[in-house]
Formats: sequence, C-alpha cells, structure tokens
Amino acid sequence: MGTKNDGRVLVIGSSGQIGTELVEGLRERFGDDAVVASDIKEPQVEQAGPFAMVDALDRRGIERIIEKYEVKEVYLLAALLSATAEKDPAYAWKLNMESLFIILELAREGVLKKVYWPSSIAVFGPSTPKDGTPQHTVAEPTTVYGISKLAGEGWCQYYHQRYGVDVRSIRYPGLIGWKSAPGGGTTDYAVHIFHEALKSGRYTSFLKAGTVLPMMYMPDAIRATIDLMEAPSERVRERRSYNLAGFSFDPEQIAAEIQRHIPGFTITYSPDHRQAIADSWPSSIDDSAALADWGWSPQFDLAAMVDDMITHLKGSANV
Ligand code: SER
Repeated sequence: MGTKNDGRVLVIGSSGQIGTELVEGLRERFGDDAVVASDIKEPQVEQAGPFAMVDALDRRGIERIIEKYEVKEVYLLAALLSATAEKDPAYAWKLNMESLFIILELAREGVLKKVYWPSSIAVFGPSTPKDGTPQHTVAEPTTVYGISKLAGEGWCQYYHQRYGVDVRSIRYPGLIGWKSAPGGGTTDYAVHIFHEALKSGRYTSFLKAGTVLPMMYMPDAIRATIDLMEAPSERVRERRSYNLAGFSFDPEQIAAEIQRHIPGFTITYSPDHRQAIADSWPSSIDDSAALADWGWSPQFDLAAMVDDMITHLKGSANV
C-alpha cells in the first residue's frame, strides 16, 4: 500500500485555502494514496487520492477514517479565521479548540504518531513589539481567533511536555496563493486584489494604505509546513509554535507591484471592521528560531510572488 513510513497522513480541512495546496504538496512528496483528504464539504477540485467527508468535531468519524486508512499523522487545518470568527465567537472557540483536543487526545492515546496544527500571527496583539516580532514576546491578542490560537499553542506545548506528544506548529503570516480562495481572514485582501486587478483593473481595499502586515507566498508556506513535519524530532525545540516570515507590505506596495504588470490598475480604500484586527497585528516577524532549528528560509519576495501570481492567474479559470 502507498503509505508514508508505516501509515497514511490525514489532512482535516482539506478544501480550505491551505488544505487544498497542502494535500497537493504532500501527495507530490509521498504519493497520492499516502494522503487522505477530509473536509466537511465536498472537494471543489478533483482528488488524486482518497477523500472522506468528516466534521472536525466528530471524534468517532475521525477515528473511523484513521482506522480505515491506517493514519498515523494528522494535519488539523479546520478553523474559523480572524474575520469570520468575530461574527460567532462562541462557535469559533468551540471549533478551533475542541477539534484540537480530539486530535491531541488521539495522539496521547498512541493512535497518532505526529500532529500538525497551524497557529498564526494573530496570537500577537497591540502590546506586542510590531517590527521584527520575536519568537518569545508579549502575546495579548484581541480577537477570538487569536485567543484560540494562543490557547491552542499552550495545549500543544502541554501535551508535548506532559505526554510526549509529537505536535508541531507554525504561526503563519497572511498567505497568498492562486490555487485556492482564502476563507475569512484579515489578510484576504492580498489575494482578492489579484482577481479584481485581472477582472476589472481596480480594487477597493478593506484595509487602508500604510497597513503593513507579514505575508507569505503559498509555495513557501507549504514547503515550510512539510519541512517542519519531516524534521527530526529533536530539532523541533519550539513546541508552542514557530514564527515564520516571508515579506511584509501594505496595500499600496502590493498595488504598485501589480501596476508593473497591469499598468492601468488602480486601488482605492474603504476600511471596514477588519482594519482594527490588522492594526493589532505585527508588521514584520523575526523567524530566526525556525532558521536555526530546522533550516527554514523563504524563496519568494514581494516582486517574485506578484510575478508568479499574475502568470498563473492570467488565463486561468480562477480569475
Ligand atoms: N490570515 C489569517 C487571518 O487573516 C491569519 O492567520 O485570519
């Protein structure tokens, strides 16, 4: 059977922005059959390997998939993101936390050997140093999403220390990709802007000019995720979550970069409730711990990302 080591990998939340690309990346690395995709919704893209429908809060359902496919590693990506979570804080807390407990418990019981759980720059808040935010610093988030990610990081560390669970995590910056749509975050504008630039030549940003946020191109994020999971356990010294940086920009800077490819492109600003979330987050991230521990370094800067996004989106059905 096409498995990775002695079992398959399960991705929960495989139809989301990260899941879509992570499943593809894992299948490229380990084989189509070694990776089981799962989501609460039917997949929008054709699956090259196994897919199972499951609710991330359904422990029995998850156990059945683990048993059927001999799963030993789980990437738990199901979550409400920052902007969506503010609309239903109670449900966001429930989904983001209880799904994590299910997976950490399965690992504690020895059913799973390794767990991946994403954290975010949203763990930081207004009292965090904004520039070059260190790995270890003040983290007083003001969003329910950030509160849930910070609490989850604490539980990951606890399960590792107390029960020896091999859980690994990255604090993603805003992620930009052309293969999948973002799902309710504050950094989503940086994906929408490409689609609107190509469709209508203009974009109204929900964040104002000057709002600098840390971002990353999806191929770098996928590579970082798989590299972290493949690193020898003793190299993974941060068991809360790793800071990870790509590049930082504000809406004006990405618009200027897009204008180099689409000369008539214009941007206007109409900030909404997401501005306050963005204002509470760092502008840039110090990811030297990820470099020191497992050799992380990004390949894409702003110009290379914009170039690659436009090349792929031009003439694609995703525009
Ligand atoms: N991109 C995410 C969001 O905006 C941050 O984790 O919610």
